[in-house]
Order: sequence, then C-alpha cells, then structure tokens
Amino acid sequence: MEKLRSSFTGKLGFVLAAAGSAVGLGNIWRFPYLAAQYGGGMFLLVYIILAVTFGFALMIAEIAIGRKTGLSAIGAYKKLDKRFSFLGYIAALVPIIILPYYSVIGGWVTKYLFVYLTGNSSAAVSDNYFTGFIGSVSEPIIWFLAFVGLTFLIVLFGVEKGIEKVSKIIMPVLVVLSVAIAIYGLTIPGAFEGFLYYITPNIEHFSAKTVVAAMGQLFYSMSLAMGIMITYGSYMKKDVNVESSVHQIEIFDTGIAFFAGLMIIPAVFAFSGGDQAALNAGPGLMFVTLPKVFASMPAGNIIGGLFFLLVLFAALTSSISLAETVISIFRDKLGWNRIFTCIVVLIGCIVLGLPSSLGNGIWSNIKIIGMDFLTFFDFISNNVIMPIVALLTSILVGYIIKPKVIIEEIESSSKFKGKKLFSVVIKYIAPVCLFIILITSVLSAFGLMKI
Ligand code: PFF
Repeated sequence: MEKLRSSFTGKLGFVLAAAGSAVGLGNIWRFPYLAAQYGGGMFLLVYIILAVTFGFALMIAEIAIGRKTGLSAIGAYKKLDKRFSFLGYIAALVPIIILPYYSVIGGWVTKYLFVYLTGNSSAAVSDNYFTGFIGSVSEPIIWFLAFVGLTFLIVLFGVEKGIEKVSKIIMPVLVVLSVAIAIYGLTIPGAFEGFLYYITPNIEHFSAKTVVAAMGQLFYSMSLAMGIMITYGSYMKKDVNVESSVHQIEIFDTGIAFFAGLMIIPAVFAFSGGDQAALNAGPGLMFVTLPKVFASMPAGNIIGGLFFLLVLFAALTSSISLAETVISIFRDKLGWNRIFTCIVVLIGCIVLGLPSSLGNGIWSNIKIIGMDFLTFFDFISNNVIMPIVALLTSILVGYIIKPKVIIEEIESSSKFKGKKLFSVVIKYIAPVCLFIILITSVLSAFGLMKI
C-alpha cells in the first residue's frame, strides 16, 4: 500500500493473496464453535446458502469497486458517491476493532504450540487447563504480546512476502493435516453421532440466531464488509476474471472451515457424549477438544505441535493483513511515516487487547451489555458494524451507482455468468435481509427481544 500501486502478478497471485487474508482463525477457531453452538448441520446449511448468495454478491461488489476506482475503502466510497464517504470510515473501524482481540486468540494458539513443543501436552488434556490459563493474569498477556510482537516485526521488516511464500506451502499442508485429523477423529467411539449432528440440518435448530451468527461469521471469515476486499481489488489487474476468482476464494475459505468443524465437532461428541453444555463451550472449544484428540492419537504430541504451528501461520497471515490495513488507513489519512505509524498502531493494539485478555479472568465481572470484552468486540464488529457496512454498500451499488457499473467492470475482463443472481441479491435480498438481521441482533443484545 505504498504510493505506487503495484498489482498482483495474475489470477493465481490474487486468489492466493485474498485467500491468505480470508483463511485464518475465523475458519479454524471461530467457525467450529459457532457451528457446534448453533445447531450443527442447520448452521452449516445456512452458512453455505449465505456464502453462495450474499457472500458472492458482496465479494464481487467489493473487488469490482476496488478495481474500478483503484483506491482503498476510504477513497473508493468517496469516489463513487460523495455522500457515501463516511462508509469508508465505518469500514475502516472494523480491522481496528478486530486486530487486538484477534491477537489475544493468536496468543492462545502460540501458547498451545509452546506447550506441545516443550512436551507438556498431557497437562492440556485436563478439563480446567484452558480456563485456568485464560483466567490467569500475566500468562495470556505474555502470549498476546508475543503474537502482537511477531505480527509487527514481520510488518516492520517488510518480510510479509516471505511469510506469504511460506504460507503457500503451509496452507496445503494444513488442509491435508486437517483432513487426516478429521478422519482419525471420526474413528473415536461416539464420534459418528457428532458427524451426523454436523452434517444433518435439523429444522428444530433453526432460529433467527442461527442466521445472525452465520451472517456475522461469513463477513468475518471472508474478510468482507471491512474494506479489505476493496483494497485487494485495487491491486487486481484489469484482465483477471473476477467471478471465477471469487468462486475460488469462497471454495477455499468454506472448505477449510468445513474441515475444521469436521475435526472438532465429532470429537466433542465423542468426549462429552453429545452434551449440549460441551457444544456451547464457545471460544474455548478448539483449545479444549483438540488436545484430547491428539492425546488419543499415536504420535499425538508431534501431530498436535505441527497442527498448532500451521494454525499459527494461518493466524499470522491474517493478522499481518489486518495490521497492514490499519497502518495504511492511518498513513493515508495522517501522512505519518511507516515506522512511527507502526509504533502507534502497535501501542493502540496492546491497549485495546488487554481488556479482551483480562476479561476472561480478573475483569470477568465487568460486562458490557452482558458480554465480556472479547465477546463484546467480536459482537460489535461482526454483528453490528459489518452488517451496517454491507447494508449501505448494497444500497449504494443497488440504487445509487446501479449494479450495471459493477457488471460492466466485471465484464470488461470476462463473461459474468452470475450477473442475474448478483443484481437480485444486491438490490432486493441483501438490503432487506441485512436490515432485519441488524435490528434483530441489536435488539437481542440489549435484551429487548428474545431470539
Ligand atoms: N478472515 C480472517 C479469518 O477468517 O481469520 C480474519 C480477517 C483477516 C479479517 C484479515 C480481516 C482481515 F483483514
């Protein structure tokens, strides 16, 4: 994001870079615990339907906006319509909110990697290990600082390219390993029931909550409604096929989330007998369940260590792209130099991340609308700000600049097979559904509505 706008070398470069940002803790840590909590197969079905309609339309729109204007979010919305300039600023808020708490979870992953590398993994199997760890004061903070430090070191020394190269090897290995762990997990007695829970949609599990949670997860996982894909689009060459790139990114992102769920949910059943309390474990699910799977595996220590290493890489490629985005927002607006901006953003990230870390322990009695800090930051970004950005983007594209402008941009390089779907979703379905989702999630958060 320097002055001279460079571009990705081609379609593969674009797809891999966008997938590098999209695939991260959202897929491996967040998706499985939401799927477990919100009805397994029903959540999966709702998620996939939303991905091929909303996800598709919104990602097409964002990438095309970026490529057409050649600008990142703040400038791009302004260029399309002056009255929508504010939307760029709202979108820019999202990575600023996410980066700190993302790094807290990144710290947990780093700690687990360390536990496996030092041969202490047997301790991690006990039920209270995880809550004991995140509930303490200094330990999670130290690991959070380690993760933030690593992210900023990479950004500061500009070695992202190196990391990206490594992640092109790492990502396929992660996929293979996840599939292998998932298959192994299915052989544990009792896991098959969990497999059925994960893939069979049960109408009784359908509620407004399922849709709200799936929608928030979709934005988060695909790095949508936060300006990221606009920026990526601005780096995209004019001859690259946008539609098939979007399909590939979606398949990659959803595929990894699916396997992460397959790795975790059947195993939760096997170890808990399908107890709903275990399925509701929330953010701790991956950290509580997987050590048990690894402990029951031959060479589980090594496999566990390798797994957390790969997850750490996936998390780092995402945290780097978050940090880069935040840094470029400040630099573009305030004209600061790179090092100074890095330091300011680093300090801001630490200050904002500390409450999320302490909120699981000594600050757990402090609640914002009934949520601890981490849950609140996650809620406000995924279930409030992102739907607002998506809603206003669909209004801007559907009614102000008109879908035609986006369609022409896509068709300048290739045929646009899904243009009917795109127009219908962006004009009619997206605005109505996003409005309902937004109102529902806000009212329920304030206890004004039960969903
Ligand atoms: N999409 C990432 C994930 O699923 O982990 C999270 C994310 C990364 C969001 C980078 C935004 C971003 F710029």
